[in-house]
Amino acid sequence: VLLDVIRAEIERVGPMPFDRFMEVALYDPEGGYFTAGGLRSEKAGDFLTSPELSPRFGSTLARFVAAERDRVGDPFTIVDVGAGTGSLLGPVLEALDVAVTSFAVEVSPAARRRLADRLPSTTVVDSLDAVPRPRRGVVIANELLDNLPAAVTVLRRDGWRERRVATDGDRLRLIETEAREEVRAWVDAHAGPVTEGAIVEAQLEATAWVRSVVASLDAGALLVVDYGDVAEGLRHRRAEGTIRTYRAHHLGPDPLLEPGRADITMDLNFTAMAAAAEAAGASVTVHRQDDFLTEWGLRDTIADLRDRELAAARRGDTMERLRIRSEITGAEALLHPRGLGDFRVMLAEK
Ligand SMILES: C[S@@+](CC[C@H](N)C(=O)[O-])C[C@H]1O[C@@H](n2cnc3c(N)ncnc32)[C@H](O)[C@@H]1O
Repeated sequence: VLLDVIRAEIERVGPMPFDRFMEVALYDPEGGYFTAGGLRSEKAGDFLTSPELSPRFGSTLARFVAAERDRVGDPFTIVDVGAGTGSLLGPVLEALDVAVTSFAVEVSPAARRRLADRLPSTTVVDSLDAVPRPRRGVVIANELLDNLPAAVTVLRRDGWRERRVATDGDRLRLIETEAREEVRAWVDAHAGPVTEGAIVEAQLEATAWVRSVVASLDAGALLVVDYGDVAEGLRHRRAEGTIRTYRAHHLGPDPLLEPGRADITMDLNFTAMAAAAEAAGASVTVHRQDDFLTEWGLRDTIADLRDRELAAARRGDTMERLRIRSEITGAEALLHPRGLGDFRVMLAEK
């Protein structure tokens, strides 16, 4: 059905920029991957995120949140954008020893229902616009910005070209067209080191999102956690670009094949995100997830868990030993240097 919507729009207005294609495929109110259908970010869904793997992700970030609260004082608000099942916000709120105002922002109606059940003291909304401004506190976005619609560009001898989605009989295919002015300006500014043939996603929505969130912050921090790298680090992924789909925990089909039925995502360009946050007045640092979680005590937590595992083993308490072992396995996965530990964390403070 979504394919028909897309084909009709192409017939009406011509080949579709890739960001518009993503917008329809992921967010169409009737058939979009996130807006229609069930919960996507859980064990039965299409991908497993850090907070879904281990509650220690949230409880570790809670220490960071508490430090921000000490720094900026009250009133203090936590906003989790793209909050999914609440697996991040839940442990954060539990681990904080004071009550804070919290908001969960979700475009998915199924996720909003789950959040309202799970987090009765949190206000659940469908858009950041519904969160009062100006804001003091922490805004968190874990694996959100990689889904925001992006244009796709290719560097040719005579400059940047832009890929658009066109019809091809019953199917869709990508064609190369002249790049829109704003798209060209974005890649000129943020693509980093590129050579001819490079495929670069122009993440205009993500940078606009970062700029507006930081601008709306009176004092506090924006924490963006995602896969990706600084522009220099993405250099080796430019030959093919980084757009991909996920379904049932595996790499999925070509994004053009079944719009609405698979997650479409890409590596986030953290140099571009940092520039946007700085332009809006924040001081910015970019970290690896394993380093950031270590800084906020996750390795100490794991060491404590190991002590408790050993004590349970000595007591002969097998159930408890196995329970702690599985907690350790989950927590360690957050630090895996080629897995979740290799994610990036942008901290933008005001
Ligand atoms: C990859 S999941 C991550 C969920 C959660 N943060 C986690 O780490 O488990 C992305 C989530 O963001 C939501 N989402 C996508 N775009 C959004 C937007 N523009 N505003 C709010 N939520 C959005 C989706 O519905 C989905 O639940």
